[in-house]
This record gives sequence, C-alpha cells and structure tokens, in this order.
Amino acid sequence: MKQVKIFDTTLRDGEQSPGCSMNLQEKLEVARALEKLKVDVIEAGFAISSPGDFESVKSIADTVRDCSVASLARLNIKDIDAAYEAVRGSADPRLHVFIATSPLHMEYKLRMTEEQVLEKTEKLVAYAKNYCSNIEFSAEDATRSEPAFLARVVDTAIRAGATTINIPDTVGYTTPAEMRALIEYLIEHVENSDTVDFSVHCHNDLGLGVANSLAGVLGGATQIECTINGLGERAGNTSLEEVVMAMRTRPDVYKNPPRIDTTRLYNTSKLVYNIIGQTPALNKPIVGANAFAHESGIHQHGVLANRQTYEIMTPESVGITTNKIVLGKHSGKHAFEARLHDLGYDLSDEELLDCFEKFKVLCDKKKSVSDADLRALVRHKKKIEENTKYKLDRFYVHASNVLSATSTVRLAKADGTKIEDAAVGNGPVDASYNAINKLINPPAHTLEKYSINAVSEGKDTLGEALVKLKVEGEEDLVSGRGLSTDIVEASILAYLNALEKII
Ligand code: KIV
Ligand code: ZN
Repeated sequence: MKQVKIFDTTLRDGEQSPGCSMNLQEKLEVARALEKLKVDVIEAGFAISSPGDFESVKSIADTVRDCSVASLARLNIKDIDAAYEAVRGSADPRLHVFIATSPLHMEYKLRMTEEQVLEKTEKLVAYAKNYCSNIEFSAEDATRSEPAFLARVVDTAIRAGATTINIPDTVGYTTPAEMRALIEYLIEHVENSDTVDFSVHCHNDLGLGVANSLAGVLGGATQIECTINGLGERAGNTSLEEVVMAMRTRPDVYKNPPRIDTTRLYNTSKLVYNIIGQTPALNKPIVGANAFAHESGIHQHGVLANRQTYEIMTPESVGITTNKIVLGKHSGKHAFEARLHDLGYDLSDEELLDCFEKFKVLCDKKKSVSDADLRALVRHKKKIEENTKYKLDRFYVHASNVLSATSTVRLAKADGTKIEDAAVGNGPVDASYNAINKLINPPAHTLEKYSINAVSEGKDTLGEALVKLKVEGEEDLVSGRGLSTDIVEASILAYLNALEKII
C-alpha cells in the first residue's frame, strides 16, 4: 500500500487568499519549515502570475533539497515555460498544470468544447513532459464535472505523461461519500490508473475539506493537497495539521499515513500565523489554545486518572510541550537552551546567545517566562528583528480620552547621533508613527496591516506587533515585527523594523 503523500500549497493556494500574502523572506522561512516537517511536495507559487511569484518559486526551488518543489501553470506554453524556468533548480522539480473540466467552467470561463479541452490536455501535458518527468495534472472543478468526461480527460493526461492526477473540489461543494465514489470510479474506469498517484484538493466552503480529503484516501487517493492552518481561497483548503493527525490517530482506518514529523506541526502552524499576523480560533483542532485544555470537572477528573479518557492524541505528538518548569531570572543558559530544545528549536550559537540576552531583559520585566514567551523570543531572533540604521532610543507618549495623543520619539542613528521629534495622532501608536515619519521621511508607503497580539496571558504579557507596508510601485509587502511588554514600544519597533527595509 502506497504511503499517502502530502502536497503543501500554503505558498500558492494559501498565500493567494486575502490577508495572507507573504514576502520572499517569509516564504523562504515557511518553505524551510515545510521541508523539516517532511512534506513531500511544496507548491511554491504560480510562476507566471507575477515577477515576485516567479522569484519566490525560483528561490524556494533553489533552496529546498529534501522535497519536490512545484509551480502551478495553466495549460498554455507561456505558463509552462515560466513554471519550468522557476522550478528547474529543484532537486525534484514538478510542473502542476491544470484546466477546468466542468460544463459550467468550460462554457462560461474557457469557452471551449469538451473536444477542445481534451486536445489541449493531450498537447500541453506532452509539452510539459518534455521539460521534466514529474507532471501533475489537475482537472479544475472536477467534482462538478461529468464523471465519464472527467475519466476521458484523466486518461488523456496519463497517456500524455502525467504522473499525478489531482481531483480538486474547487468550490468546496462535494461530500465525503461523493468524493470517495469519484476517486473509485476514476481508478476503475481509467486505463493505467495504477501507474499514477491520484490526489485530492479540497476547499472548505462547507467545512468538509478534511472529511472529503480523507474520503478520497479511502477511495484510493495517495496524495492530499492541503495548507498549514487551512489557509486558502474563501473558507480555505484542507488543513494539513488536521488531516495528518486524523490519519495518525486512526491507523486502523487510514493504513498508509504520510511521513510528516508531527512534532513540528505546532511550531510550523505558529510560524505561519505569526507571518500573516493572525492567531488561531481557541477551538481550532490541533493548534488552538483549547485543543488540549480540559476545563470541566468531569473531564479533569478523567484525565487525571487516565489521559486517554478524554485525549485521543497527546499534545507532545504535535509538538506542544506540557512541561511545567517555568524559567525566570535565576535560570541559567543551560536550562534556557534545554527548554528551547524541548520546544523543537535548533538555534545556532549566535541566535541562542541573542535569545538568551533578550530572555534576561524580559526576566526583569516579568516574574516568570512561559513557553509562549520563549517561542516569541525565538521568532524575534536577531536576524529578523535587529535594526541597524535607526534604533529606538526612547519614546514618551501622552494619551487620554480628551485630547489627541502626542508622542515624542528619539532615534539613534548608526553613527551614534540622536534625532528627536514629536507629533500628534489618533492614539499613541498613530502619534508615534507620525513622529517617526517626520524623523526619517521614508519613501511613500501605506500601512496595509497592523496587528498586535498578546503572546501569553496576564497584564504583563509580551505584545507582538506586526506591520505590513506597501511601498508605492513595489509588489511585495514589507513586514516588520516588534516584541515588548509595552504595546506602544512593540508597535514602534515593528514600524522601525519595516521602515529599515525600505529606506
Ligand atoms: O482549487 C483548485 O481547483 C485549484 C487548482 C488550480 C488545483 O487550486
Ligand atoms: Zn484550490
């Protein structure tokens, strides 16, 4: 029985959804995390869609070594040329070509007949095959296509050289029973179906993405397309962490689970949420704050007597550590390092030292430092956060509910000189940003995103600020991050961090 492959499309289907865009550095960071997670394929983007997408697919293909890297392409020569140019540096390049096969899409979107779709499939899959052996063919809107016609298209794609056949539920319309039946039907009716991987790609419009993907596996699919945290168009795609843990937790039902290192799920999920400036719903399976919490007395009693009474998987199996040792100002470097190691981080000596220094500073502000605080410190390690051109020297804000807020900000320049200015604004953050703009006079930009999240609980929690700036004429958004127990300071640091990159 073939092991199910995980095809991660966080950087393509996930990233193209509103509010989830990432810049090149962020995409590379996610790609490295996916490689460590041991996904089989990373869909790094849609190379033809923009120069930025091309560049990021190429950089990921050139960097990642332990899994295949794919680019999406419509069935036309320009798309396929660009896609191959972008992925050719991969250790195992994959071209992912697609065309719609439902009556609705063929008539209104493509304005093509069935015969034209078949002809295009034959010609262009063969064209892609000239470039590389690893070809995935997707029949867009497959679940609303005529099964007999879909089987003809799939048969044509296999004859032309496709090695993976993907059956997307593009609009999240199908049901588990239908998805299973469709995969079984195709495997039965298409010649040589046993020579390829059948794949499922489910959208979550009815909340059925994971269920439909699992049903596809029971029908014979050996690849699941999914995204970290279920990001994706509209209601998102199948969530990687949920579908993988379902297979791992029920080996009696799913006998060929993927090779994913599940102990990296939590950190990878956090990384992606952090990059897009979101936090999971409390009850989000696997990674939500309540996913392993037992509040009611009956449940607590049961769990204390035997965890399995109310826990079907352990938090440790997804990388959540439940060690109650709390670090504080008396903790030494060894304890600190050991804790980070338990949390799943492998840092270089330099990064470790940098985090340890920040930890000591934090200990002066907070009595005890939790795992959530430590994770935030790691996310803000030097290479991400350190500003060199302008450092925050000090700030003074005055905010009330009767007058406009004012902020005076003093910055230290790289040569040691200090500059100071003040501004008013709609609240202390706005006032501080206005003061910084007066001081630095940065290139014209708009603030596309500003978020501040509490890292853990309590009034003295660290605040993690994220800003995303859009510079006039640039495609990629520029991100900046700041971390402090003072939320105005975190916001200032995040803004300076982003400005640093555009000046
Ligand atoms: O949802 C979809 O149909 C897709 C295809 C391009 C694979 O994302
Ligand atoms: Zn999709």
